[in-house]
Amino acid sequence: MRKPIARIAGIGAAAPSTIITNADLEKTLDTSDDWIVERTGIRERRMLQPDEALSDLFVNASRDALAAAGLEMPAIDTIICGTCTPDRRLPSAACDVQAKLGGGTAAAFDVVAACPGWLYSLTVAEGLIASGASNRVLAMGGDRVWSIVDREDRNTAVLFGDGAGAAVLVPAVDNRGILATALGADGTLADLLYIPAGGSTEPPTEALIRDKRLFVKMAGREVFKVAVRRMAQACHQALGKAGLRPQDIDLLVPHQANLRIINATAGEAGVPIEKVVINVDRYGNTSAGTIPLALVEAERSGRLKPGMVVLLVSFGAGFTWGAVVVRW
Ligand code: ACO
Repeated sequence: MRKPIARIAGIGAAAPSTIITNADLEKTLDTSDDWIVERTGIRERRMLQPDEALSDLFVNASRDALAAAGLEMPAIDTIICGTCTPDRRLPSAACDVQAKLGGGTAAAFDVVAACPGWLYSLTVAEGLIASGASNRVLAMGGDRVWSIVDREDRNTAVLFGDGAGAAVLVPAVDNRGILATALGADGTLADLLYIPAGGSTEPPTEALIRDKRLFVKMAGREVFKVAVRRMAQACHQALGKAGLRPQDIDLLVPHQANLRIINATAGEAGVPIEKVVINVDRYGNTSAGTIPLALVEAERSGRLKPGMVVLLVSFGAGFTWGAVVVRW
């Protein structure tokens, strides 16, 4: 088995305090609690208020991760945010977070990889530590998905929520740390889950807002099928690289998009459901925030213990996907 290069020294996560239940959505959408629970497993999700920012969640998650790592901000030399919903187009979310954490001169940039954004961030952080370019990295993942969802579209509005997480990565000193990562993407399928306009080709206009071309469009059934296939493949690929088998996994922390996708992925990956961390019922799909939110819950509840082998896996718009094996 490969000796780890980078270790997760501390994690943190944050979600807004405002809860939106299925009953709340029933008031404005042609949907029902029964439909949402049966098709997705989601019962409630969180939503940032207009006077709150995604960077606030990143800051709270980062403070917890730093405290858990026993480090303070000046020790961090690189800040990475995995997000597709930064507070503003410029600068990066990472720069806004750096300023809110007290400034400094750490390198700061975003990784845009949709739901697997945190796994992409971890992988980039590991590479920077391996090359010697960085020594202590704050790698975040999270999204304000309500900002890109049409609240009148029942196909998407019931699925998502806001949330974020952070990890502090440092050089590994023993056998604990990232054992393997496997990332992938297929841009030819982008139009199954995308935002039609608002980029540099069609910058935002009143017409684009009116025509709802600044919101997520999704072919749910197609996304479902590719998500399960790609996440299962990524699990096997990462396990193969780590020299491990599915039975060696103590805990699977999959992207929390939909309970049916989680069950199907665990089955295809060969991990029994008792070893799977699930909190999609309480947060919905927070995109790059789902895995750190679930990991932190598992750690704080005592379910995730030092020395355990943990498999993280995700899938999202792009399409992008990734799996990471960690010895905790
Ligand atoms: N309430 C009530 N009815 C609804 C709702 C709703 N919120 N949304 C859709 N419906 C209706 C549809 O209009 C359709 O009606 P029709 O049969 O009259 O045409 C019916 O329910 C069935 O729709 P389907 O799309 O076939 O339902 P399905 O069982 O596939 O479930 C869902 C839909 C939950 C979106 C599922 O396809 C899914 O989870 N796909 C993955 C999407 C996803 O997770 N995307 C997130 C980003 S990618 C990722 O994170 C993995």
